[in-house]
Amino acid sequence: MSLQYYPIETGRLVLRRFTLDDAPAMHAYVSLPEVARYMMWEPLSLEETRARLERWLGSEGDAEEGDNLSFAITLKGSGELVGDCGLGFRNKAARQAEIGFSLNPAHQGKGYATEAVGEMLRLGFERCNRHRIYARCDARNDGSWRLMERLGMRREAHFREHALFKGGWDDEFYYAMLEDEWRAQQEGAA
Ligand SMILES: CC(C)(COP(=O)(O)OP(=O)(O)OC[C@H]1O[C@@H](n2cnc3c(N)ncnc32)[C@H](O)[C@@H]1OP(=O)(O)O)[C@@H](O)C(=O)NCCC(=O)NCCS
Repeated sequence: MSLQYYPIETGRLVLRRFTLDDAPAMHAYVSLPEVARYMMWEPLSLEETRARLERWLGSEGDAEEGDNLSFAITLKGSGELVGDCGLGFRNKAARQAEIGFSLNPAHQGKGYATEAVGEMLRLGFERCNRHRIYARCDARNDGSWRLMERLGMRREAHFREHALFKGGWDDEFYYAMLEDEWRAQQEGAA
């Protein structure tokens, strides 16, 4: 089990393992149309939120291909749950991983997601031996791609009208960072 990866502390946040007791606090934001807007799902009921958490907790494994590490983004001090982020382990030989993230709109605009997702890159590159970490987002999801650019991820692809999504054409960005790019960024920052 991947319990060794929890919790992660940042300046303002504690990224901890979820429990099923987090369902109501998570439901407070995954039930909102604005949060689900660019996601593959529609706003979730409390029951669906519980099922999602069960699925996440059941897919932790040992950070092997197909496993996912999910983190509750909580505020240091109050412990309030403000969002989630995670790392999904993909191709084992090529050491790929995908990141995902959501924040309760009540806590957006403060840099919490940037702080948390930066730790997903650190975890992937420094502790989980990843070669490339990527994320996908709807091209209209400005908050998401701006966050990835703030973290130094590169826009790798812009798929135009490559699929149908929630009643219209889907434009999608791929962002990524390589292990070498992460190390260069860290050395530059030191
Ligand atoms: C994507 C999402 C997490 C971005 O949230 P966010 O609050 O904009 O992102 P951050 O926490 O990094 O905050 C960045 C904003 O806080 C501001 N900010 C304030 N203090 C900051 C700090 N200390 N550090 C960085 N940014 C800070 C930034 O200027 C930026 O504001 P801007 O958007 O006006 O430029 C959010 O929009 C979301 O949850 N959306 C719904 C779910 C979703 O679409 N997820 C992504 C799927 S691909």
